[in-house]
Amino acid sequence: MTKLIVMAGTEDRDLSKLAEYEAVGGYASLPKARALAPAAVIDELKASELRGRGGAFFPTGLKWSFVPKPDQNPNPHYLVINADESEPGSFKDNEILSRVPHRFIEGCLITAHAVEAKHVYIYIRGEYLEPYEILVAALEELKARPELLGGVTIVVHRGAGAYICGEETALLDSLEGKRGQPRTKPPFPAVAGLYASPTVVNNVETIATVPAILELGSAEYLKLGVENSRGTRLVSVSGHVENGANFEIEPGIQLRELIYGEQYGGGIPNGRTLKAVIPGGSSTVILTADEIDVGYDFDSLKTLNTAMGSAGVIALDDRVCMVQLGIRVSEFYEHESCGKCTPCREGTRWMTTILRKLEAGEASEGELDLLLSVCDRINGKCLCPLGDTAAMAVASYVDKFRAEFVAHLDGGCPHHDSPLEGVLAPIAQHAHHLGSAARLVHA
Ligand SMILES: Cc1cc2nc3c(=O)[nH]c(=O)nc-3n(C[C@H](O)[C@H](O)[C@H](O)COP(=O)(O)O)c2cc1C
Repeated sequence: MTKLIVMAGTEDRDLSKLAEYEAVGGYASLPKARALAPAAVIDELKASELRGRGGAFFPTGLKWSFVPKPDQNPNPHYLVINADESEPGSFKDNEILSRVPHRFIEGCLITAHAVEAKHVYIYIRGEYLEPYEILVAALEELKARPELLGGVTIVVHRGAGAYICGEETALLDSLEGKRGQPRTKPPFPAVAGLYASPTVVNNVETIATVPAILELGSAEYLKLGVENSRGTRLVSVSGHVENGANFEIEPGIQLRELIYGEQYGGGIPNGRTLKAVIPGGSSTVILTADEIDVGYDFDSLKTLNTAMGSAGVIALDDRVCMVQLGIRVSEFYEHESCGKCTPCREGTRWMTTILRKLEAGEASEGELDLLLSVCDRINGKCLCPLGDTAAMAVASYVDKFRAEFVAHLDGGCPHHDSPLEGVLAPIAQHAHHLGSAARLVHA
């Protein structure tokens, strides 16, 4: 049975209110952290080996340690929380904000102490109205408890529906009131972030994990998970599975178990068979049904050239057409490309154009190679990973299902009604249905 870290206490209680959170020991890690020097909190985080849950998997304590001390840089220090969650297939942060808002806020306050920030901005996906309202209500409750806030101001900022604003520097530009487009790095936000001041940007789940690390101590925390993937992760399992929901798991669990396990995805509905799995949200390299006997952790997935990403596991059954999947994914990235760099802006448009020709049976074999060539010319040449990951994902569909793409050259597609509706849809409400109390299974 997985020890719950982020969702602990939600098995039998509604923890969204302050009193309930405190009744299960909530806000006890905060004074513990404040009794320590900021550097000691950072050391504890480093020792825990926590890595960011937003997709890039960067070591959290190390990131915090890059922030200059106030005497080295007297500008205000900022903590910015990335609650933009727009990756198709990922809906875990929605559940955290909705069900354990105070644990997340406690994590923000501990982090603010560690990086000596007095201002916290939470940038939340605009479509996440319900989590936003729950979060704001939780912050209202804290107004009556200034000793918890400790002089830190927390501002919630709603995004306006742009996937690129999840990229940390585009997010910072958007917060500053500019058009959300990635900045060139370096400088990194830790040194010159919001208003060119030292800024830590972290994902919601990363921060919601922090109180437990202070409570348990890094030595206990390290006992969870596997090497390079410590602790727990909230995984959104969706697509063609019986039980689409978020599950808090220990990395190292088999991907097959996440899809077929009774207490997880519960298998493929309607007697269909599994065709493929997108393991970490739409940005990740696809796996065939034969590749799911693999640990769901950083190192194991890396052996298959893919990643946990934002932990959105999407199961696709045997009816899915890989060309149509490619169109769906490519259209999304084309639409969301901010246009700042040419390979991404032009390349994603070309990817979609060629895929549509393939689907219509109007493409030549040369154009299938052209698709791969376009992907190759995007990958590694963009200002931010948006274009790179779009190209890698689509190229992996061709790589692993080439025969299906070739079949389209003669106008043949065995999947005219490819059932992609509801799969890969970055729809906010989707998450809430799936993540109801009954569905977050504590396996
Ligand atoms: C196009 C794009 C979209 C992203 N969207 C998100 C997002 O919605 N949420 C998130 O936490 N990180 C997102 N990221 C990753 C962030 O840039 C950054 O790595 C992360 O917020 C850092 O937090 P962490 O270290 O706690 O993971 C995105 C990155 C890219 C390139």
